Amino acid sequence: MAFIIGVDIGTSGTKTVLFDEAGAVIASKTIEYPLYQPKNGYAEQDPEDWANAAVNTIKAVMAESGVKKEDVKGIGLSGQMHGLVMLDKDNNVIRKSIIWCDQRTADEVAEMNAKLGEKKLIEITANPALTGWTAAKILWVKNKEPENYEKCRHILLPKDYIRFILTGEYATEVSDASGMQLLDVPNRCWSDEVISALGLDKSMLGKVYESCEVTGRLTKKMAELTGLCEGTIVVGGAGDNAAAAVGTGVVEDGKAFTTIGTSGVVFAHTSKISIDPKGRVHTCCAAVPNSWHVMGVTQGAGLSLKWFRDNFCSAEKETAKYMGVDEYYLMDKEAATVSIGANRLLYLPYLMGERTPHLDPNARGVFFGLSAMHTKKEMLRAVMEGVSYSLRDCVEVFKQMSISVSDMMACGGGGTSPLWRQMLADLYACPVKTAASKEGPALGVALLASVGAGIYSSVPEACKAVVKTDKVQEPVAENVPQYEKYYRLYTEIYPKLKEKFALLSSL
Ligand code: XUL
Repeated sequence: MAFIIGVDIGTSGTKTVLFDEAGAVIASKTIEYPLYQPKNGYAEQDPEDWANAAVNTIKAVMAESGVKKEDVKGIGLSGQMHGLVMLDKDNNVIRKSIIWCDQRTADEVAEMNAKLGEKKLIEITANPALTGWTAAKILWVKNKEPENYEKCRHILLPKDYIRFILTGEYATEVSDASGMQLLDVPNRCWSDEVISALGLDKSMLGKVYESCEVTGRLTKKMAELTGLCEGTIVVGGAGDNAAAAVGTGVVEDGKAFTTIGTSGVVFAHTSKISIDPKGRVHTCCAAVPNSWHVMGVTQGAGLSLKWFRDNFCSAEKETAKYMGVDEYYLMDKEAATVSIGANRLLYLPYLMGERTPHLDPNARGVFFGLSAMHTKKEMLRAVMEGVSYSLRDCVEVFKQMSISVSDMMACGGGGTSPLWRQMLADLYACPVKTAASKEGPALGVALLASVGAGIYSSVPEACKAVVKTDKVQEPVAENVPQYEKYYRLYTEIYPKLKEKFALLSSL
């Protein structure tokens, strides 16, 4: 039997999973590392932490599993998107990586718009200039730390730095490179026009591959350190969301997934590129050749429920401890006792501003319609419904872009709640399913590696063979029009408050 390794370089830690060719987990290991926030709005990590974690987690799964190294046929890499790794002429890391959630680049976003024009930038890179994306970060180092930029010879994304460590190759692949804002996303290659307009040097960027292509082979030194064979192939892999798509089988038109983690993502596959001219959702190359994905992001999804739990649910926390169950399980049961609409209470989940559809960092959370008869359980239900309305907003943008969704998977922590999945099924008016495997991104890149190794002939074929659905929740016919009424009202609240949010932030 053949075995494959998936490595996911996340923000809280790196998780490596050894799968057999049927997708069963043979061994799994996670190593955590710190996030540095030297100033408000800054977020950095040390690429050496990622490298140590990647090497040691691979070593651990090999040692624990007892699988013969000759039977491991390939490695796939997934990772947090947008982070900037800079190497000098001797391949030393020049400074800590500025990662995806860092917000220091407002000046550089303005510079990008001035140099290229907003319309042109969206046409070529499929997205508006964004503070969290890599191009603005490179410009920030060029402008604010010229001594570091002077030394820079190679620019890599987080998982591509791990590729360099494992294989010695400077390379990337289309899904993650889309989030650098230097890629011509419709044509899946670097954009000379964007790179030269921003005054950057193309020779610093790695070679661009498709996600399932072989990008390099494990070096002798890395083979010794990890316990694998020298020459084991490393495929392109994918950014974490594109990787999760493969791991949940979202690789054909009509298929989509919703993930409720700290933030919420609604992700849909599309075989024809579709770009929102208003930039409300991201468009990137998919990990499947010749296709793309659109992705709406709501900033405060699971975060809203966690905020509510931590501030108002100490009783539930105590009871959960006593009963030996999860706190969220009890909160779910409590919210399920309240009917749709939470007794006329609405919640806007903009605790951290909002990306889709408002692109407004000043937006903030709102309870609308609070009355003396409301209790904690109505507020709890309103929070879950409000998050679901914000996810429905993403699907509405997809509809305006003619991307139809008929098959929705649910993942992330929130995806384990049956109540939340039912809300989504009723609001999307389509079945919401879960995947049997909980390994989304790691499984996704392992499948890409199995295509690179020739075990499967294409990404959809690998998904058909391996990805199995578990629970399915159908929309409940009488719930659909009820949620619709509340959703319509929800969409009318933000526009009325938009200016007041800006005013509030300036006080
Ligand atoms: C996507 C995004 C995050 C990061 C970190 O645009 O910012 O999903 O990839 O997980």
